[in-house]
Amino acid sequence: LATIPFFRDIEPSLIDRLTPYMHHKTHRKGDLIFLEGDQGNEIYFIGSGSVSIYSFDKSKKVILAYLREGEYFGEMALMKPGMVRSATAECLVQTKLYILRRHDFQLLIENDRNIAFHLLDYTMDRLRRANQQIYDLTFLNVRLRMIKQLLYLAENYPIEGLNEFVIPVKITHQQMAEMVGAARETASKVLQELQDEGLIHIQDKLFHLKDIKLLRAKLLQEE
Ligand code: CMP
Repeated sequence: LATIPFFRDIEPSLIDRLTPYMHHKTHRKGDLIFLEGDQGNEIYFIGSGSVSIYSFDKSKKVILAYLREGEYFGEMALMKPGMVRSATAECLVQTKLYILRRHDFQLLIENDRNIAFHLLDYTMDRLRRANQQIYDLTFLNVRLRMIKQLLYLAENYPIEGLNEFVIPVKITHQQMAEMVGAARETASKVLQELQDEGLIHIQDKLFHLKDIKLLRAKLLQEE
């Protein structure tokens, strides 16, 4: 649990008290953890692997976030009894989750104010990102949204000082389209353009950003 930032700030004695209430589960790639609209009484911490958070209906799907180890989800339905899941959660690869029930999570919040601050901080980061997504969808074209998304995915990892990086999760064109709010055909066309310009290289669904500085510069130039 010490690898999860959320637990790093918590008094060790509190963690000791909670450990018996915490269970863990390893899911396979493609497993659904819950569906949008489900009742929700648990919060999930990602010990390893990654999880896609998305909304969908019969014909459309929008990926809200890819979460990775150290992050958590499911806190929204948990905060208010009766609230349902605001999105669907699906494992992108084999994923180990640590799970806490509402009552035990509430105990954690009541006993340690660092937890409440941590939650607030995390929620604000998500709101900031959601606001940014609204801006991008309103004002930026698909090419710029794609460049931004690629940089965002890479920046989830410690890439400081690097100019080249392979995003270590397999991503299809369809998934990229669902992340930037574009049709698959449009997303593929833009990805091909970026490959032709030598900015990225895609092999076996792994995205190799070949020149991060130049990608950032393009964003500034074209925005
Ligand atoms: P909950 O509503 O319980 O179930 C879906 C979860 O997805 C939600 O809690 C959050 O933990 C997470 N989630 C919802 N929207 C976003 C978002 N825009 N970015 C990241 N995570 C989100």
